[in-house]
Amino acid sequence: MSEYFDVLRGFISKNDHSVYFIGLFIVCLLLLVLLLVKAGKQRKLNSKITVLDRIEDIHSESDYEKKLQKILELVSENTNADGYFLYLQDKLNNRYRLEKALFAGDKKHKTKSSGVEVGYGRIMSYEKEIYSPPIAFDNAQIPQKPEVLMDGRFTVLILPVIKDKGFISISGRSVRKAMKDQQLGYVLQKLQSVITEAADSKSRTEQVLRNDLIQKDVSLFDDVMEITLLTVGADAGLFLGIDNDYCELKAIYGFSDEKEEKIKTNIDQTMILDILAGSEGYRIIDHTKSEYSEMPDVLKDGDISHYLLIRSERGVFAAFYSSEPEKGFFIDYRIDFVRLIMDKLSMLIANDQDVQASEMLLDRLCGLVHKIDDEEPYSVGYSDLLSRYCVIIARETGMNHHERLNLEKAALLSNIGSLAVPESILRKNGIYDEHEYEIVKGHAVYGARIAAIFTENKLIADHIRYHHERVDGLGYPEGLSGDDIPYGARIIGTVQSFLSKIKGRNYREPLPFEKIIAFISDEAGKSLDGAVVETLINWFRKKQDKQSLSGKPLGSCWEMRCSSEDICQKCPAYLRKDKFCWEFPENNCRAHGNNSCETCYVYSEYMLRNSKSSSEDK
Ligand SMILES: [Fe+2]
Repeated sequence: MSEYFDVLRGFISKNDHSVYFIGLFIVCLLLLVLLLVKAGKQRKLNSKITVLDRIEDIHSESDYEKKLQKILELVSENTNADGYFLYLQDKLNNRYRLEKALFAGDKKHKTKSSGVEVGYGRIMSYEKEIYSPPIAFDNAQIPQKPEVLMDGRFTVLILPVIKDKGFISISGRSVRKAMKDQQLGYVLQKLQSVITEAADSKSRTEQVLRNDLIQKDVSLFDDVMEITLLTVGADAGLFLGIDNDYCELKAIYGFSDEKEEKIKTNIDQTMILDILAGSEGYRIIDHTKSEYSEMPDVLKDGDISHYLLIRSERGVFAAFYSSEPEKGFFIDYRIDFVRLIMDKLSMLIANDQDVQASEMLLDRLCGLVHKIDDEEPYSVGYSDLLSRYCVIIARETGMNHHERLNLEKAALLSNIGSLAVPESILRKNGIYDEHEYEIVKGHAVYGARIAAIFTENKLIADHIRYHHERVDGLGYPEGLSGDDIPYGARIIGTVQSFLSKIKGRNYREPLPFEKIIAFISDEAGKSLDGAVVETLINWFRKKQDKQSLSGKPLGSCWEMRCSSEDICQKCPAYLRKDKFCWEFPENNCRAHGNNSCETCYVYSEYMLRNSKSSSEDK
């Protein structure tokens, strides 16, 4: 044993300097660890104190919107995500409703007073996806503990704050890490009191509104204003009811709280907009032109470059632009839509229950669809045709009269949401890039929102919302699959798939009839509903058989009602049974968009039969 000690002693005497330094290093390391631990504890303590101070500040904030903003800011400072969304309990509808959204790194969003971010469904800003949160969640969907969910292709972390009052969801970076973050857990725990306060004040406000028997749906008004602004590409807007010497602010949207307050207190100044709108009832005012001096002082602002004034039957709508708008936003049907939706808004504000007047507004909306279709040769008559084929399938499948009417209207209005898409994208001569496609996809959701404003019939809005879903779940806006997609929406989807091929697009030629039949057969069970495809094809075959008895393959185009009646009536082939339509020089096919008779399925079916019979003859 003593031998070992001798060896050890020898080693120490030989390495005394090294041992000294190793010992010193270990002591320093321990001190450093101690210091770090202490600093960490201090930091945690400091951040807890900061959180408590911030909670105090949120408590004392009297402005409801600012209070919600501060709640989300506090969460955003304690975790690293792309979007933060605060949902509060909506007792009336027994669900949680989105009250406030905050997007990281984008100050523009932080100043928005609206709770819902403007987005075209799942919109992408160029090359970057932005999550558009659902407007509401059913109570049952909200977990008791933090849980990561997939909303479409987005990862979302639901952070329950306090039961039956509210929760926060975050999306984007590091959401899985955030689930276990202790500091974030502490923040959420401390937020319980302020969220309770916010939820209670929200329900108190709702109670007051109900008690006053004011049936106004605030979110519906915001919806109207948001859609109107998208239609004309503006950043903010207001709607005034002007009656002789009386001026009432009916709706305002997109301004900062401060600016909104200023306008409200100086509303009398805005009466002049009625005169400024001019005799045509619509005018654009450029801030660099002399006319700008006529604008009321309260609306003058260094940030505004253009104003759009539109007079409707019920008042004046003014839109505000921060930079020069595209000319396409001022196309006739967009201006007409603003007038129409302002008339509807007036009815909603006045809680006017006149059914006949509502029906008339809905009819005007349907009339607008034709104007939109007429903008391009290839889309003339499109919505009518879509609607007509949907009704055929509905009849063939034994849908009742009421369901058929809903489907007919939904199909007619299915693309009304394209009003929310800028003309430069809508009329693009070529294939959309990814960003543009995302914007175009938004027409389904906006169409449903427009329909919901004009009709209380939820089925119509749902058919429109889901008309681009696919049965394999790869469609949009929600990626529903199979029977989860309303049946009417599956019918619209099938017919529009057929028509898109037969009518072509501005970037590709139409296909011949039989190729389309093969295409939709192939899509049955993938993008399209198998039973609906079968019904449509069977109907065509029935029609072909019947027509073949009279020597014609599919009948004349006007018999097929493949175009709207007003187009057919202008065609030299209309009602002429002595010849095929393509035998008439100047037939109207070119006029309504087809490049030649080759693209007409009446003609292509005829050619197909001819080629078949000539090969059989040989
Ligand atoms: Fe569509």
